[in-house]
Amino acid sequence: MKTPIISPSVLAADFANLQRDIEMLNSSDADWIHIDVMDGIFVPNISFGQPVCAAIAKHAKKPLDVHLMIERPERYVEQFKQAGASLISVHYEACVHLHRNIEQIKGLGIKAGVAINPHTPVDLLAEIIADIDLVCVMSVNPGFGGQKFIENTYTKVQKLAELRNRFNSSVLIEIDGGVNSTNAKKLIDVGADVLVAGNFVFTAANPLATIKDLKTQL
Ligand code: DX5
Ligand code: ZN
Repeated sequence: MKTPIISPSVLAADFANLQRDIEMLNSSDADWIHIDVMDGIFVPNISFGQPVCAAIAKHAKKPLDVHLMIERPERYVEQFKQAGASLISVHYEACVHLHRNIEQIKGLGIKAGVAINPHTPVDLLAEIIADIDLVCVMSVNPGFGGQKFIENTYTKVQKLAELRNRFNSSVLIEIDGGVNSTNAKKLIDVGADVLVAGNFVFTAANPLATIKDLKTQL
């Protein structure tokens, strides 16, 4: 069994105790820290922006995996790189010039990902898959933490893994939304490499043990 990369989402952390929660992640088996940025336009909700990302980066000892749920993300990618991002994912649905946006992110010397909404077919990534480091497959409609996992995600991940093989690509497949111990193993089995988990980690009685369980597929 492949060991997944675990990227807990601080969207579900206690915003009044962010330093404490980041230090918990530092001492955990988590590999990355997932940062959900929402603009209230691309998605119905507003979360936080680059000042909070920079504050997290000050304490984080793990790479920041920044998920931009914003319109025209090219306006802000440079600021998020300054705020500590190691990887920035932009939404396929939010980018008219996706290839240009990917080049912009890679030009900053960081990794580039593309996130796709639940209704977006993975085949639309055929002409960009060779240029990106990660595909973030949304397993809920973006905008809120704590939503129910969409079962069709397994089929999408399978199709994406086939696309990856066809293009001889080493792109990482990340799953974002409603991930828990019930779906994690099956997601890894069909080809996922990175699991994002917000509520499952932060509402757990023992977040450290929960992260470890996700990582070891217990
Ligand atoms: C949804 C966000 C996710 C979400 C994950 O818009 O992109 O990262 O916060 O949280 P859970 O695991 O609670 O669904
Ligand atoms: Zn996310």
